Amino acid sequence: MPSNIRYARTAENHGFEYALTQIRFTASYGAANQHESVTFSQALLHHTERIKVIAAILPGPWNPAVAAKQIASIDNYTNGRIAVNIVSGWFKGEFTALGEWWLEHAERYRRSNEFIRCLKGIWTAGDEGFTFGGDFYRFRNYQLAPKPLQKPHPEIFQGGNSDDARNNGAEVSDWYFMNGNDLDGFRDQVEDVKARARKVGREQEVRFAVNGFVIVRDSEEEAIQVLQEIQGKADKEAVSAFHDAVQQAGASTSNKTGMWANSKFKDLVQYNDGFKTKLIGTKEQIADRILLLKSLGVNLILTAFLHYDEEIERFGKEVLPLVRQLESEGRGKVAEEEIQRTGAVYGH
Ligand SMILES: Cc1cc2nc3c(=O)[nH]c(=O)nc-3n(C[C@H](O)[C@H](O)[C@H](O)COP(=O)(O)O)c2cc1C
Repeated sequence: MPSNIRYARTAENHGFEYALTQIRFTASYGAANQHESVTFSQALLHHTERIKVIAAILPGPWNPAVAAKQIASIDNYTNGRIAVNIVSGWFKGEFTALGEWWLEHAERYRRSNEFIRCLKGIWTAGDEGFTFGGDFYRFRNYQLAPKPLQKPHPEIFQGGNSDDARNNGAEVSDWYFMNGNDLDGFRDQVEDVKARARKVGREQEVRFAVNGFVIVRDSEEEAIQVLQEIQGKADKEAVSAFHDAVQQAGASTSNKTGMWANSKFKDLVQYNDGFKTKLIGTKEQIADRILLLKSLGVNLILTAFLHYDEEIERFGKEVLPLVRQLESEGRGKVAEEEIQRTGAVYGH
């Protein structure tokens, strides 16, 4: 905990706006040793002043009444700095270990869709309270008090790549969270989710976030060497076990395009395919790639680092000011220009 508090403080002092926590109740691949995400988020918020923390919430173990109440309370303690990431679950062993029903992929996302509608309904209900009759959740004139401070409600993130995840992103979420990908993968998802959102009148309401692993070094060769070292020193057994688990999850989606459907061993050394985002190189190269992502419609980048203490600071001191400067010069607006400048790097 002390080191995570230090990272969060360093991040907010260097211009980062959000931090994400994750939820894992149990895992078969060496990642089970994690604190619970809502309490962990609250602990980080308690020790910081500006950064927003996004708490992962897993429908199944959580019910929307509990989640809405917890998050509303935290929103009050922290002056509006909590957000949620509604994850739909992909690890069967985790659900069966908890005695939870293991629903098939589309059903898990249908449950998440209801879960998100319940959160929003509970958080924003008027004097008559919240009433809902769904297949998974039911409420009758439920009146939450106190309500969250953030209006209309704390931001709701939701991730994935499948058809089901895209629909939930478009229909009910504030943010659609993407794994690392290549240029076609990013363009496809942003355009597709926007088109789905347009159909339900929400095109302006959905924003896009992407995961990326950052390695800033003085030269590109040096950065790539660090990447190869990370991949070379990976715990082969743990990554292979994760690979097997997520391939099963990806293949079980209706359109077979689950998030990890095309991930290779070396991609999965960083769970959320963060190397594919290629924020690896000199500060200038990374700034260019960030502007490319921005021009495609990406509004937020979730970063991960090898040495958090030094590298959050380096990113904040070297890359962020460069991005801001280039933005003020008009960069990051025209996708075709940005693709010409740097797009080739995402092609292979
Ligand atoms: C940035 C990000 C963070 C995630 N965090 C978690 C998490 O903490 N716990 C979890 O079980 N799943 C997490 N997921 C997984 C998603 O909920 C979902 O299961 C996964 O993206 C597969 O989706 P798909 O089958 O729709 O492609 C995360 C996904 C993304 C993109």
